[in-house]
Amino acid sequence: MLIPVLLVLLAGCTDADKDFVRENVKFAAAQVDRQIAVVEDSTGVVLNPLSVREDGTIRYCKYTDWRSGFFPGTVWYLYELTGDEKYLPLARKYTEAISDVQYVTDNHDVGFMTMSGFGNGLRIAGIEEYKGVIVQAARSLMTRFRRAPGVFQSWEANPKRDWKCPVIIDNMMNLELLFKAFDLTGDSTFVQAAVSHADRTLKEHFRPDGSCYHVLDYDPESGEVRMRVTKQGFADESIWSRGQAWAVYGYAAMYRHTGDRKYLEQSLKTFDMLRNHPDLPEDCIFWWDMCAPDIPDAPRDASSAAIVASALYDICTMDVDNPEQYKAFADRIMASLASPAYRAALGENGNFILMHSSGNVPAGLEIDVPLNYADYYFLEALVRKSRL
Ligand code: GLY
Repeated sequence: MLIPVLLVLLAGCTDADKDFVRENVKFAAAQVDRQIAVVEDSTGVVLNPLSVREDGTIRYCKYTDWRSGFFPGTVWYLYELTGDEKYLPLARKYTEAISDVQYVTDNHDVGFMTMSGFGNGLRIAGIEEYKGVIVQAARSLMTRFRRAPGVFQSWEANPKRDWKCPVIIDNMMNLELLFKAFDLTGDSTFVQAAVSHADRTLKEHFRPDGSCYHVLDYDPESGEVRMRVTKQGFADESIWSRGQAWAVYGYAAMYRHTGDRKYLEQSLKTFDMLRNHPDLPEDCIFWWDMCAPDIPDAPRDASSAAIVASALYDICTMDVDNPEQYKAFADRIMASLASPAYRAALGENGNFILMHSSGNVPAGLEIDVPLNYADYYFLEALVRKSRL
């Protein structure tokens, strides 16, 4: 099964790229098959693997977790990459187990939660019922649009931090849901809101060097910015790597959907800041924060690297100068992630593919661990690489 599908996907690739993708897909399938076996052996609710605890036990998440779509999405990508029909009912089962994500209105993450499972299921397998879930999820997200600032409110107000309408750079990743809802309904208000959010974020969230803040708080009445701070970064003025990764990916996606070059320029500017950062590690796997005080002993974040690699395989198909430079950097990241330094041995690492991601270092949570979204974006990068 593996060979015919990959032969078609890889038709335009060099031999070295073909070998790289084939070897990594083969490994990923074997590793995720073990993860699936554990899930299938369980009884009761459908388990949704997230990470690994210090004692080696696997952490699972509920559908309400922002990461609930990534395990279903990982199985969709394996289906796409291998063509192995055994993955289709599994991907459907894991996706449909979280169908209540479409009604989540207490945060902005419904885009992540919906598009990785339902979005990929519709794209890859054309499952009609998923259209309604996607449209309902977009409507749920629209309840969070705040007219005065013209943005989606990411998190609820937080009196302890004096936040009234906090918006995080991660929110850029939820906008593709709105473009899909527009495709499915023809309702342009979805796109107007997405463009409004992207434009205001572009104006307010970035520093002159192209790096971005994590959290902006807006006044919901006047629309003014109240503060620029961080939650998951080292400091308010530091460069939290995953935030940069979301910006690179999110603005490239905005360009793909709208053709507006200012979005592509922001994506490239933020990427250039990372690429030229004096503390960029030799292997191109970012520190969890590029301003972490304990570099070179700081934890890495493989998830940020996988997100940037996937974005760069998108960018190198766009109207950019010297597209090869973006593919070359993505290839460097992917070579590192696929090496024994980051790719787990078969059957280890809780059966996750990648090691060394960092979720929320300031909170002391998920430091130097596997995370399901690192695996998801690694496989997405393989899908995109195989199509070049
Ligand atoms: N909120 C998404 C992240 O931690 O990157």
